[in-house]
Amino acid sequence: MASGSEGSAHPWAPRELALVVPTLNERANVPVLVGLLHEVLQGVEWEVLFVDDDSRDGTAGEVRRIAQTDPRVRCLQRIGRRGLASACIEGILATSAPIVGVMDADLQHDESLLPHMLQALRDGDVDIAVASRHVEGGSMGDFDKKRVAISDFAARLSRLIVASDLTDPMSGFFMLRRAAFDAAVRNLSGQGFKILLDIFASSPKPPRFQEFPFRFRTRQFGESKLDSMVVWEYLMLIADKLVGHIVPVRFVLFALIGGVGVGVNLLVLRLALAAGLHITGAGIWATLAAMVSNFLLNNQFTYRDRRLKRWKLLRGLVTFSVGCSIGAVANVGIAAQVYGQGNSWWLAGLAGALIGAVWNYAIASTYTWGKTK
Ligand code: GDD
Ligand code: MN
Repeated sequence: MASGSEGSAHPWAPRELALVVPTLNERANVPVLVGLLHEVLQGVEWEVLFVDDDSRDGTAGEVRRIAQTDPRVRCLQRIGRRGLASACIEGILATSAPIVGVMDADLQHDESLLPHMLQALRDGDVDIAVASRHVEGGSMGDFDKKRVAISDFAARLSRLIVASDLTDPMSGFFMLRRAAFDAAVRNLSGQGFKILLDIFASSPKPPRFQEFPFRFRTRQFGESKLDSMVVWEYLMLIADKLVGHIVPVRFVLFALIGGVGVGVNLLVLRLALAAGLHITGAGIWATLAAMVSNFLLNNQFTYRDRRLKRWKLLRGLVTFSVGCSIGAVANVGIAAQVYGQGNSWWLAGLAGALIGAVWNYAIASTYTWGKTK
């Protein structure tokens, strides 16, 4: 086959540029992207590293198939892992090229920018070249209005954590010197998908950057993996950068959801008592309701990156419930005892729920959503 060694008389030469491409079900896009890279990067020593999170459509196999005949192509396959930002970080760590580009696999990023970005970095006074949809000449393509509005809002929010005047901090298309990455790598939060913003926010001094306008193309094969929860993940990144060094954002969230659980607990307790149930029976219903709603909320928000789905969700609910049953017994027992001492129903409920919450947190982070492998 073609092209493995063009740009060099040797079959292999040190790579000046590595492209890190995160993939999740992008099989049809991989060969097209590799072909385009060969076209635009003639005369450059480059490699492309696909970081695949065990796609069901055989993306990793496709990458390895191409790599058999094209030494510029590499595959890094992650099992049981998810996350755009962490995929990019691990891809960058897995190459030794002094300049690294990050781009999507789905052909929405205009590869013809790559030589210009590379040149800017070679010339010396730029650390990061950012492809932007928001500078003069750039465009969101046919993004719908809602997404444009969210993107604008997010750009403004980013000012909370980065000093740089980036027009498109959400961009997933950029190129940087290894030194700039190394300076930030230990501070990266690696959560969610905002890897560029993460790098800027984690750099000890503001990176010198240059922006390159581009038009975001329409996806042809496969579908977008970013759902409405990306907004949430984005807020988590901002929160982590703002207060993460004082108290873990996950803990704050768990506590907040615990608060909601207390509300659910009290509400159900009140309703059950009003319906004529004995305090013990009412307490059991209240505890169950709080437990299930806490489980679902934490799965959706607090442990979103380890989210349980389908039968694992069910298993998680079961283990969570079983694991927390000690806490639940304590909850009911304490509530009954406090109530029995003549205190009001809400004080009783509050005391019980508090004990339950402490148990739940311990079980949740070490067991239900703990790393099992
Ligand atoms: N390894 C891995 N793991 N890859 C992922 C994951 C993941 O969990 N989620 C998405 N990807 C890959 C996709 O396969 C694709 O190559 C790339 O990351 C971008 O994902 P899309 O699902 O196509 O994202 P998008 O087009 O909606 O969003 C793009 O625009 C955003 C700006 O609005 C991306 O470039 C974002 O990074 C960017 O912020
Ligand atoms: Mn895309």
